[in-house]
Amino acid sequence: MTSATPLQNDRYLRAALRQPVDYTPVWMMRQAGRYLPEYRATRAQAGNFMALCQNPELACEVTLQPLRRYPLDAAILFSDILTVPDAMGLGLEFAQGEGPQFRKPVRSAADVAQLPTPDMATELRYVMDAVRTIRRELHGKVPLIGFCGSPWTIATYMVEGSGSKEYAHIKGLMYGEPKTLHALLDKLARVLTDYLNAQVAAGAQALMIFDTWGGVLSPAIYREFSLRYMQQILDGVKRENDGRRVPVSLFTKGGGAWLDVMAETGCDMLGVDWTTDLADARARVQGKVALQGNLDPGVLYGTPERIREEVARMLASYGHGSGHVANLGHGIHQFVSPEKAGVFVEAVHELSRQYHV
Ligand code: CP3
Repeated sequence: MTSATPLQNDRYLRAALRQPVDYTPVWMMRQAGRYLPEYRATRAQAGNFMALCQNPELACEVTLQPLRRYPLDAAILFSDILTVPDAMGLGLEFAQGEGPQFRKPVRSAADVAQLPTPDMATELRYVMDAVRTIRRELHGKVPLIGFCGSPWTIATYMVEGSGSKEYAHIKGLMYGEPKTLHALLDKLARVLTDYLNAQVAAGAQALMIFDTWGGVLSPAIYREFSLRYMQQILDGVKRENDGRRVPVSLFTKGGGAWLDVMAETGCDMLGVDWTTDLADARARVQGKVALQGNLDPGVLYGTPERIREEVARMLASYGHGSGHVANLGHGIHQFVSPEKAGVFVEAVHELSRQYHV
């Protein structure tokens, strides 16, 4: 039974809840990914990226790969935010080197009305099986983070049909047919609440909502079309399991200006990208939430000495006391050398003890 296995390293959970720790815990967004040769080998074995996500044993294997290399304080489920719209019948494809594409984008009120609600126990069962398999194989070493995309971020892919620079279709809906977009976001928020609750039931010990594209909105529109639906998820997600609080983090990339309103949602932790100083972020959230971040992933192209200097600057910027989970400000790049990632992780552990005495 997973619930009977005691957690050996709970620093991530403690820091996310602003409880004391002896050093700052660290993990890396996209820690399982193409910068690791062993990841590329397992993906080749699976055939392609979606086949890898859909194979619980191989998804477990790539989740654990970075933990074998580095003393990370958390594991994150290997999956993708786009598994959900795929299960809603949009037909996801990852063409090599081209990013995600949907065969059937959602463009009209009729498209939204016809979207099916996926069943967590069947269409998305492979995700829950991956969570159960990873929990079993982690043997309580570190906590497992489950995740989803924000309704807004997932909707951008569903409406555009792929990644976008201009967001012509979704902004067309937003400013032309806002009711249709609200109906889509509401539907997504309901499905994503079920999705996160199913991950918790399967064994996820913390949750993170990735709002990668919230930063392309103006402040009032961000609150109406992105934050409001993340709030809906937060209000519906189970916050305790197996007698322990399940911390929930929100991360809006480019959302540094809105940390104060984000801190009002009742989430436990906010992700911060590298365009915001942690000292400034900490002052703005007034002790309501923990902070996660925020090294520029590009720093990992630098020398080991320079990486250590930037880690020292990040830790000093947050300052004394708990409530910080160190991370990159966004996903690790595919061309970073694995050794440099190790320098980052070890520097956090080594240089952070002084802030926890
Ligand atoms: O962090 C982890 O190790 C867990 C796995 C994870 C992936 N995607 C694996 C992945 C997580 C948490 C995600 C979330 C995700 N997926 C986000 C939000 C976080 C962010 O990065 O902003 C978004 C926007 C997506 C959608 C997505 N998935 C895109 C745009 C792409 C293509 C771009 C790219 O980096 O190639 C993906 C593919 C993807 N998801 C890869 C990985 C490891 C690379 C695909 C491959 O192996 O070929």
